[in-house]
Amino acid sequence: MSESRVVSDKPTVIHRHDYQPPDWLVPSIALNFLLDPQKTRVKARLHVKRNGEHTHPLRLEGNDQSLISFSIDGVDALSQVEKADHGLTVPLSGDSHFIETEVEISPESNSQLMGLYASSGLLCTQCEAEGFRRITYFPDRPDILSRYTVRMEADASAFPVLLSNGNLALSGKTENGRHFALWNDPFPKPCYLFALVAGNLAARRDEFITASGRKVALAIWVREADLDKTAHAMEALKKAMAWDEKVYGREYDLDQFNIVAVDDFNFGAMENKSLNIFNSRYILADPDTATDADYDAIAGVVAHEYFHNWSGDRVTCRDWFQLSLKEGFTVFRDQSFSADLGSPAVKRIEDVRSLRAAQFPEDAGPLAHPIRPESYIEISNFYTATVYNKGAEIIRMLHRLLGAEQFRKGSDLYFDRHDGEAATCEDFVQAMEDASGVDLKLFRRWYNQAGTPKLKIAFKWDDKTKMAHLHLEQIVPPTPSQPEKQPMVLPVAVALIGKETGRNLIGEQLLVLSEASQDYEFGPLEEEPLLSSNRGFSAPVIIEDQCEAANLAFLSAHDDDPFARYEAMQQLMLNLLVARVHKEQSNASTVVEAVRQTLIDPKLDSAFIAEAVILPSENMIGEQLETVDPKAIAEARDDLRSILGQELEDLWRDAYKRSSRGDYSYTPEAVGARRLRNVALSYLAAGDFKDAPTIAWQQFEKADNMTDRRGALDVLVNGVAPEREQALTAFYERYKDNALVIDKWFSAQALSTRPDTIDIVKKLAVHPDFTLKNPNRARSLIGGFAHNARAFHDLSGEGYRFVTDMIIALDKINSQTAARMIAPFGRWKRYDSTRSELMRQSLEKILETPNLSKDVFEQASKSLLSD
Ligand code: TRP
Ligand code: ZN
Repeated sequence: MSESRVVSDKPTVIHRHDYQPPDWLVPSIALNFLLDPQKTRVKARLHVKRNGEHTHPLRLEGNDQSLISFSIDGVDALSQVEKADHGLTVPLSGDSHFIETEVEISPESNSQLMGLYASSGLLCTQCEAEGFRRITYFPDRPDILSRYTVRMEADASAFPVLLSNGNLALSGKTENGRHFALWNDPFPKPCYLFALVAGNLAARRDEFITASGRKVALAIWVREADLDKTAHAMEALKKAMAWDEKVYGREYDLDQFNIVAVDDFNFGAMENKSLNIFNSRYILADPDTATDADYDAIAGVVAHEYFHNWSGDRVTCRDWFQLSLKEGFTVFRDQSFSADLGSPAVKRIEDVRSLRAAQFPEDAGPLAHPIRPESYIEISNFYTATVYNKGAEIIRMLHRLLGAEQFRKGSDLYFDRHDGEAATCEDFVQAMEDASGVDLKLFRRWYNQAGTPKLKIAFKWDDKTKMAHLHLEQIVPPTPSQPEKQPMVLPVAVALIGKETGRNLIGEQLLVLSEASQDYEFGPLEEEPLLSSNRGFSAPVIIEDQCEAANLAFLSAHDDDPFARYEAMQQLMLNLLVARVHKEQSNASTVVEAVRQTLIDPKLDSAFIAEAVILPSENMIGEQLETVDPKAIAEARDDLRSILGQELEDLWRDAYKRSSRGDYSYTPEAVGARRLRNVALSYLAAGDFKDAPTIAWQQFEKADNMTDRRGALDVLVNGVAPEREQALTAFYERYKDNALVIDKWFSAQALSTRPDTIDIVKKLAVHPDFTLKNPNRARSLIGGFAHNARAFHDLSGEGYRFVTDMIIALDKINSQTAARMIAPFGRWKRYDSTRSELMRQSLEKILETPNLSKDVFEQASKSLLSD
C-alpha cells in the first residue's frame, strides 16, 4: 500500500466555502516521459506565475513518486523545498519562474489505477480527479489551466504507438530500439484532462467533417484482435459529433480525436482532451459477445465523453465541488442523445429506473449529499449517482421550465461566456437566467439541499360543480447535516383523462410548485377525470398518491403519456407487493388484468411492453417499507411473478414466439423484440412450467447473439434443472478467452435467486479467473452480489462477512473501487435488529482495519453515523 493512502488520525475535510483562487498559475508545462513499465522517469518544466499580490510560497502536490531533482530557473534547489503532506512547498521571490523536477514512478506496481499505470501490456493514465499528482509534482487543482507539450519515449517494439493530447508535432527513432513522439495541445487545460497512452495498439480509422468543413481524423485504438469489435463505437461517435452540432451548436475543435480502450479502469471512461480513454467494456461489441444493453451503454458513454469536449474541457470546473456542472449537464446531454437515437419513452423509463435504483437510496441514507456537496474527505467518493444522475435531472428540469429554445440560448451564453475558463454551477444557472429572463432564485435550492422530495397528491372531483381540485404538498426530508429544508421548485406535468372514456379532458400542463403546498382547480369538465401526474417524470420526486387500484389500472391502459402509463402500472404492482409483504388481504387480479391488457394492446411496441410488465425490484419494494424484510420481499415478488406466469401462460408463450422471428439485427424493433422475448421467458420460468428449462436451453444453444444467450443463462442460473450446469459450462468454455464475457459469467451467478448463492459466490471468489486487480471482474462478482438483496442479506450474516472481507482485501489494491462497495451496508438502520447489528459490525470491522485508505474510511465512517 502506498504511503499516500494511509489515513492519519484525522483525515482533512475539504469545505466548499474555503475555496481560494490559486496563489500561482502555470500557463505552460513541458513534460518528458522516459517510459518503462517498472521505472518511468518524468521530467517536468513548469512556468509558474504569481497570481495577484501575496507572499505565499508555491505548493506542488505529489504522491507515490521519488523526487530525483528540483531546480528553480535552472539552479538546483532541492535543499530549499520543504517536503510535507504529500507535496512540496517552495518559497519563490519573483513573479515568474521556471520550475524543473524529475521523478521516478512505477506504472507496473500502480494497482490503484490512478496516475500512470500498466494494463494488459500498455501504459496509460487516469488523472481525474487527483491522479496527476501521482505522475509529477504539480498544483493539482482544476482551476489551473496550462498549455501542454509532451515528449514521450519508449521501447519501439513493446510500445509502437505513443499518444497524448492535441496534435502530434514530431516523432522518430532514438537509440537502442527506442522511439519518441512529441505532442502539443493548443488548448489550455486543467491537469486532470492530461493523458498519455503507449502500447501495441491497432486503430479503426474514420473521419468526420464538421459543420464548418473541418476534417477530423477519428481513431479507436484497441488490441489488433479486437478491431472488429469497434464498429459500433465508431458509428456512435460520428452520430454524437453530428448531434452536438445540431442540438447544441457545438463543433469539434481539433484535427484528431482518439479513443483508447483499456481493460483495467476504475470507471466507465474519461474525457481527456482529444484522447478519451475507455474501459474496454464501453467500446468493444459484436453480436456474439455484447448484449443490446451493452450496445446502448456503449453509444451512451461514447457520446458522454465526446460531449465533455465542450461541457467539461472547453468549460471546466473551478473546483471539485462543481463536479455536477460538467457531469450532470453531460449526463443530460447523453440521455437526450440516446433518446433521439432510439425510443424516447423507453429511454426515459430506463433512466428513471436507474435513478431509483442507485440515487434514491443514496439520497435517503447516511451518504446523502446535495448535487453540489459542501465537504469531502476524498473527492473520488463524490462521483456518485447524485452528482451524475440527480444532477442530470436538475438540468432536465431547467430544460422543461425554460423550454428547448430558451434553454439553448442559455447554453450558448454559458459556453460563450466561459469558454476557456474554470466555471461554477452558479455560472451555469446565471447564464440560463440571463438568457431566458426566468427567475431561478428558488430553483437554486436544488444545488444546496439533499434528499428526494416527497410529493403528496390529493385529487378530488366535485360532481355538482363539475370541477376537479388538486392539492399538492411537498416534504423535503432531513438528510445528514441538513435537518431543516426549504420547499423546492417542482415542475409537475399533469393532464386530465376521462375516467370512463379515457379521453384527454385537459392536455398536458406544467404546474410549478414552489411553496410547501399549492392548490389548483380544473373545469368545469364534462366527465369525471383521472389525474395523469408527473408525466415524463418531470420532477425527480417520490409521489404519494392514494389513487385506487382500479384507477391505476385504467391509467396503465389509457394514459397518453408513455412514462405515466408505465408508472401507473409500477405503482399498481408496488401497492400489491407491499400489501403482500405485510401479509395483508390482497388480490392479484387487478395486476394480472393490467398486465394482460398491456400484453395484448396492439398499439404498444415490444420494448415498451417489456418494460411495463417487469415487477419493481426487490430493492425498490424495500424502499417503501418501514423495516426492510428481504426474505418477505423476495417471497412476495416471487409469488406474484409465478401468479403472472401461470395466469397469463398463453400470452407469454405467444409473446415469446411472436418476438422470436428473424435473424439478428441491431434495430430498435429487433432490440425490443429480444427484450420482450427474454421477459416472456423469465415469466415462463417463474410460472414453473415443465418445459421452461428446455425452452431456455434451446434458446441458449441456438442464440445468434449475446442478448438471447445471456437471457437464457439468467433464467437457468436461478433454477436447479440440469440445463443450468450445462449452460454455465458451455458459456465458460466458449468465452474463456474473452474477459468481458467472463465478467457476465461471474455476475450472472452472483445475481442468482438460488438460496445457495452465497456458497457459489464464495467458490467463485477462489476461481482461477477471479481477481480483485481488475475492477470489472471485482464489480461483477462482489458488486453484483452486494446488490442481490436476498443473498446479501441472508440472515446468517454470511453475505455481509464475505463482502466485508473482500472490501478490506480490495482496499489494499484499489481503494477507489473498494469504497464503491460500501454503500449497501449504509442502509443498516432500515433493517430488522439482527441484520442491522450484523451490518453495523461489518462497518466497524472495516474501520478497525489498519492502514485504511481515505476513500474507504470516509464511506465507512459516514455510513456508521446515526442521525
Ligand atoms: N469524468 C469521467 C466521466 O464521467 C469519470 C471518471 C473517469 C472518473 N475515471 C475516473 C472519476 C476515475 C473518478 C475516478 O466521464
Ligand atoms: Zn462524465
